[in-house]
Amino acid sequence: MPKEHPFAQQWNHNTRHYPKIADLVEGRHVILDVGCGEGTLVRYLAGRGHQVIGVDRDPAVLPPDSAGTHFMLGDATGLPFADDSFDAVVSVEVLHQTRMELALVEMRRVAKPGGLLVVLDTAKDGGLADLGWAVRDLVAESITRVGTSAWEPEDTKLPAALSWRQTRLAIDRILPGVEFRRIPGWRYLAIWQRPA
Ligand SMILES: C[S@@+](CC[C@H](N)C(=O)[O-])C[C@H]1O[C@@H](n2cnc3c(N)ncnc32)[C@H](O)[C@@H]1O
Repeated sequence: MPKEHPFAQQWNHNTRHYPKIADLVEGRHVILDVGCGEGTLVRYLAGRGHQVIGVDRDPAVLPPDSAGTHFMLGDATGLPFADDSFDAVVSVEVLHQTRMELALVEMRRVAKPGGLLVVLDTAKDGGLADLGWAVRDLVAESITRVGTSAWEPEDTKLPAALSWRQTRLAIDRILPGVEFRRIPGWRYLAIWQRPA
């Protein structure tokens, strides 16, 4: 019998990809989650043995610390950390809510040389070019959510202002050589390793 998805009972377009993010940062000890919201990803990564700091600009969402976690108030566009601090920096569904390029420069700055950046986010659909992706996402969604329970935390949700093309161009500019994939659930995954 197939194993249940770890977030089957806490399902949304972000949590469904948390196991993938966890696999990507495997072996990287100290991790920063930028725009952590109420901290589910932070706690999940801590449960897999990482030391995780979550930072968010909204004091209302930040939870208390728990084993392996520390939560802090802070802004992605001016992260309150020294250069070269983290083995990995992740961010889920945040960059489209802020000045994306500034936030990416900051994430890049606080990653150690050789550190990994993982961004899961969305962009604005528009035009025929995005129609095929929208159909793919609708079909994938109807299949993958069978047997799951939808869950939406109470954090800030804003529509994306930048198109997929604009988003891709900005990410390519700040993170040269980035691996950029459009993945199911109206999301992209950007993976970049800072040169050692
Ligand atoms: C849609 S929620 C995503 C929360 C969480 N990352 C997740 O996986 O569910 C977006 C979060 O980003 C935070 N946020 C938006 N802009 C930010 C910024 N410039 N600096 C820090 N946090 C920011 C919001 O306060 C909110 O908690």
